[in-house]
Amino acid sequence: MNQLNTQAPGCEVAIIGGTGLTQMQQMESLRHELITTPFGEASGPLSHGRLWGHPVVFLPRHGYGHTIPPHKVNYRANLWALKQVNVGLVIAVNAVGLIRRDLEPGALVLPDQLLDYTYGREHTYFDGSGEPLQHVDFTNPYSERLRSLFKTAALEAKIPLVDHACYGVTQGPRLETSAEIDRLERDGCELVGMTGMPEAALARELGMQYACIALGVNKAAGRGETGIHAEMEAYLSLSMQRLAGLLKAVLPAICLMGKGGAESSPED
Ligand code: HPA
Repeated sequence: MNQLNTQAPGCEVAIIGGTGLTQMQQMESLRHELITTPFGEASGPLSHGRLWGHPVVFLPRHGYGHTIPPHKVNYRANLWALKQVNVGLVIAVNAVGLIRRDLEPGALVLPDQLLDYTYGREHTYFDGSGEPLQHVDFTNPYSERLRSLFKTAALEAKIPLVDHACYGVTQGPRLETSAEIDRLERDGCELVGMTGMPEAALARELGMQYACIALGVNKAAGRGETGIHAEMEAYLSLSMQRLAGLLKAVLPAICLMGKGGAESSPED
């Protein structure tokens, strides 16, 4: 873990795209960069470019051809590669199912908590390979500073954004049974997806500011009238349109934060 200084805050902004976001259509891509990491290969080369004039680094979590399943994503390599090119602020985009009954597909959600049900994933950089062990503070898994920029931008641009929710992260790749969703609901989960962890925790271990924009593309198993896949297909493009509006509204503030103010702790 000692090749990177995790204390030095990076200033670049990255977007990690999930299902439906293997390419940022609005992005003017300037160059691709393949990064070698001590943990193996990232999901693909990093794409450096501009989004509405703002410099961003883009990485599709499932690969450019959407071939990598959630449990096979090399989360450690992905975050490490981003850190290596001086990324300090990460916007993670994740498609999710909606457990909360008052939320409709198409909703944009900014979770503030998570529950991790994944297993067998390489989930830490502190794996006993000679580095002094650190137990990172994960009380609040997402950057409050980034979250508040999202909330303000959404309010100003009049974009509906649900600004807190608990994201339950399941192993996948299969979808859940309705009994599993009932259990997740009893646990306090309001969203369900497969890719929120260990990504958020690894970003914290690397000292990055990290926030998740969850795209509610279907009602969770046992909650909807139509089939899950039909709902996903019907709502993914609406979610993408709404996401684009939100990113356009928030990027100026996030890039400014990267330039000047990313030096606070990632828990802020
Ligand atoms: N469950 C798990 N992951 C998901 C879902 C879901 O219903 N929708 C999108 N990603």
